[in-house]
Amino acid sequence: MIKKKQKLNKKFLKKEYFTQRGRIALSYALQILKLNKENKILLPSYIGLSEKEGSGVFDPIRQLKIGYEFYTLNDDLSINKESFTEKIKQDKIKAALIIHYFGFCQKNFDYVLKTCKENKKYLIEDCAHAFNSFYKNKKLGAYGDISFYSIHKFLSTNDGGILLINNDKIKIQKKIDDRISKRTFTILYKSDIEKISQIRRNNYTYILEKIKDIKGVHPFYRTLLDGVTPINFPVIIEQKDRNNVYFELQKRKIEAVSLYHTLIPQIKKDEYPISHQISSRILNLPIHEEISKKDIDMMLRELNKILKDD
Ligand SMILES: Cc1ncc(COP(=O)(O)O)c(C=O)c1O
Repeated sequence: MIKKKQKLNKKFLKKEYFTQRGRIALSYALQILKLNKENKILLPSYIGLSEKEGSGVFDPIRQLKIGYEFYTLNDDLSINKESFTEKIKQDKIKAALIIHYFGFCQKNFDYVLKTCKENKKYLIEDCAHAFNSFYKNKKLGAYGDISFYSIHKFLSTNDGGILLINNDKIKIQKKIDDRISKRTFTILYKSDIEKISQIRRNNYTYILEKIKDIKGVHPFYRTLLDGVTPINFPVIIEQKDRNNVYFELQKRKIEAVSLYHTLIPQIKKDEYPISHQISSRILNLPIHEEISKKDIDMMLRELNKILKDD
């Protein structure tokens, strides 16, 4: 029989699932990969913790009581190849998680992809900051065996996460809720992601040019590669107390964040001094689609005043 309308065929559905938040997508990913206390996941040594939010990356690992180990990051938060290679070889390690910090593709990404494959370890790509960034014309999140995104970090929603399973060999025994609030879905569906991304990129480029004139601060990433959509503009506060700068900006009604002002206590200062140094000096300026060039001029003028002040 030739029907006028087709039936729903899962073959034509992407293995993409909605969750309430990015961390819930990560929790599903960990369970689907059968990570537990008998095995381990390899984690980057730059994971934040906040009083209000907890730790988006570490909480699911702690809750599921999964074994873990950290790998070293370089001073631009790129993956330290030696540390990663040495640790991934351990039998207990079943998967590695990488974070595309602030929306920027991990610098040693090809190396990580190759190393995970050669050692037969799963790769979880954390795209919580990289909602619409590309590497070699392919979207970040399309490379890992499993990936996840955080909708509310990129769009003006209160919640929303996405779990994406790329590796067809991965069996999904766990039932995934696959739900999203109506409001979040509507905003996601209707948002002009390209336009929003372009504004973020333009704002990033504008700050890159202007910040050169300000002493006491420098951009964490000095170039914006094609295809990268940053979530904010990370800077390093060179001498002044970062927390002070943050509060002074707040007083002037400029809301910055520090990703991450506090690292989870499991990342020890003596073992990972570079991570702690970044954490104590980083400040992330907003560049979202509502920020105009005039706003940026004002923000940088105030930042300059704060940094000049004795
Ligand atoms: C790198 C990273 N991954 C995952 C998460 C979790 O995302 P969500 O807040 O949507 O649960 C966060 C934020 O908390 C994050 O910064």
